[in-house]
Order: sequence, then C-alpha cells, then structure tokens
Amino acid sequence: MLRRGLIAAAAATLLASAAQAQETVKVGLILPMTGPSASTGKQIDAAVKLYQAVNGTTVAGKKVEVILKDDTGVADITKRLAQELVVNDKVAFLAGFGLTPLALAVAPIATQARVPEIVMAAGTSTITEASPFIARTSFTLAQSSVPMADWSIKNGIKKVVTLVSDYGPGIDAEKSFAEKFKAEGGTIAESLRVPLRNPDFAPFLQKAADAKPDALFVFVPSGFGAQFVKQFVERGLDKSGIKLIATGDVTDDDQLNGMGDVMIGVINTHNYSAAHDSPANKAFVEAFKKANNGMRPNFMAVGGYDGMHLVYEALKKTGGATDGEKLMAAIKGMAWESPRGPISIDPDTRDIIQNIYVRKVDKQNGELYNVEFATIPNVKDPVKAAKKN
Ligand code: PHB
Repeated sequence: MLRRGLIAAAAATLLASAAQAQETVKVGLILPMTGPSASTGKQIDAAVKLYQAVNGTTVAGKKVEVILKDDTGVADITKRLAQELVVNDKVAFLAGFGLTPLALAVAPIATQARVPEIVMAAGTSTITEASPFIARTSFTLAQSSVPMADWSIKNGIKKVVTLVSDYGPGIDAEKSFAEKFKAEGGTIAESLRVPLRNPDFAPFLQKAADAKPDALFVFVPSGFGAQFVKQFVERGLDKSGIKLIATGDVTDDDQLNGMGDVMIGVINTHNYSAAHDSPANKAFVEAFKKANNGMRPNFMAVGGYDGMHLVYEALKKTGGATDGEKLMAAIKGMAWESPRGPISIDPDTRDIIQNIYVRKVDKQNGELYNVEFATIPNVKDPVKAAKKN
C-alpha cells in the first residue's frame, strides 16, 4: 500500500512538473505597426523576433510567447490593448511603446495590475516616474542632448537655434540642450517647436535662417528625420553656413542612407549606431539584416532587443516566477553587453544607464553611417540626476 502510494505521489509530482514545464509566459508587445511611426514598430518587432530566434523560446522551463498588437500610434488604442492583454491574455509583461504618450497611457494599468511595463522606444525623462512597474531599455533625450551642447561649445559654436517636435521628448531635448549650452556661455537665439503630427518645417526653417545662428540643433522622433532633411535642403539651409547638429533620432539608421550626401559631416549624439565597432554589434547587425531582407537595424531595434533580454534574464532570476514585484526586483541593477555597448538598469530609477557617442555622418562602403568618434561613458538620465541633487 505504502509503495503504491509513493509511486502515485511520484507520478503526481512528475505530472505537475511536466505541466509547469509547458506553462507559457506571455509578453504583450504593443507597437505602432502602421501610421507615421510604423518604422519603429517594424524595427522593434524584427528585433524581438531575432532575439527569440537566437536565444530560443524557453526560459527557466517556461515558453515565452510574444503577442504583438498594433496601436497605430494612438494612445487610447494602446491603453485598450494593454487592458485586454492583462485581463484576457494574462500577460506577465507589457512591452514596446513607440512614442511617449503611448508609454504614459499604460502606466496606470501596469501599476494596478502589478505587471512590468518594459519601455523599448519612448524617451521622455518622466516616463519611468509614472509607475514603479516601468523599466526602460531605450534612452532619454537629455542623455543625448547634454553631450551635444557640450561638444558644440567646445567646437566654437556660440549661437544656436533649437528646433524640436512639440511634445515630451522634444521639450526635454530643447531644455536640456539649452541649459547646458547657456551654462557654458552659449546663446540660444530661438527655441522653435514644430507640431508632431503632419509637420511643416518650412516656416520654422525660415525663422531659423533669419536668426543667423552658428548652428541649428534639431530633434524629431525616429521616422520623421527624412522629411525634415528634405525641407532643410529645399529651403537652402544646407548652403546657408548654418551647421546642422542633432540628436541621433534625426540621423536615424533606418532613413540615413536615403537622406543623401548632404548629410555627410553632420555631427550628432546618440546611444546606438549600426556602425558601432564591437563583435556583439557586428553579429547583431549581420543577423538582423539576414532575417529582414537587408534592413539595417536602428536604435529602436536595439531598444527592443535589449528589452527582450531584460524579460529573459528577469525570468531566469525568478526561476520562471511571474509575480510582478519579483520581476521588478530582478530587473533593478541588471547589467549586460548590448549591441550598443555596456548598459545597465539604474536600481534607483529603473531607467537605462548607457554610453553616449558623438558621431559624424560619413560614407563607409558606399553607404551613409553615423561614425562614432568620442564616447561619454555610463550616462544616467541628466534630468533625474539634477532632481536628486
Ligand atoms: C518618444 O515619443 O518618446 C520618442 C519617439 C521616437 C524617438 C524619440 C522619442 O526617436
């Protein structure tokens, strides 16, 4: 009797562990797959698929299933999709978020449901403060704008006009650039803000030209750079003697090659270049291109790839447990080698710490790239750092 009981108990344990082994951890991936930021969706979706192709779909004995949803870049849709993913699909992670308003719309859901929200794309500083369940693998605009101001001053630029998209990340870029630039003795002649939707840059470019600055500092989000550059050239600003300087969102790897040789020599600052010289990046770029018809990965792809790394490593640390608090504890302080270089998640803010590179657009093997020539290591979000002091 005893023996039969033991066998039954052992069999029950085996069955339970088999069931556990087949258990699925779901990741709700919400991206703009259509609309004006579709390139962000396309890049991140491709990177997430590549991460799973390289690393497999099983982590800590669980199958990781990604459920992709298209929010078209509209915050109300992002919010509804996040609610459905939490309530109906019981996702363990919400991830993606191609624009700041989309990331912010989901913050109350992450808090209420205690589900980690992995921000792979959006860049407004305050996002990580909107919920204790948010962690970010993208960037903040202040991270790249402050080094751009610093480089400008050190290279003889004294008077600047800033031109940014008129919403969260643009305002962060404008303010953090201006603050650093003025603190080091520079002058801001004009601070121009262009509507995010259907931007017409022409009247703003006219104002910029009239102010006769040494340089025009620009931020537009990924996917909008080519449109800006087209109007910059059409208005003759490339021949005006006004230097174009920018965050790397403008000289986006997704569009840079199509912008033409007019971009050669443009100095910009950012966290990732497809030309970043490391074995990890070479392998990443090669595999990404191979899996996507030659498409070059941009900084959004890297944010997505690293976001999946965070999901996988957090699950490894919790032994497959999907409790939101445990996952967040696992995420805090995590550090690894990304295709962009060494990165980590600040345990205090859940925001990314990463190198920022100063780059110059140049031709390599007949293609335009952002070629890195200086590194500012381990940059924390300057906006949050300033608040702390
Ligand atoms: C944002 O909306 O936060 C955002 C989007 C694209 C960028 C940068 C920031 O390139």
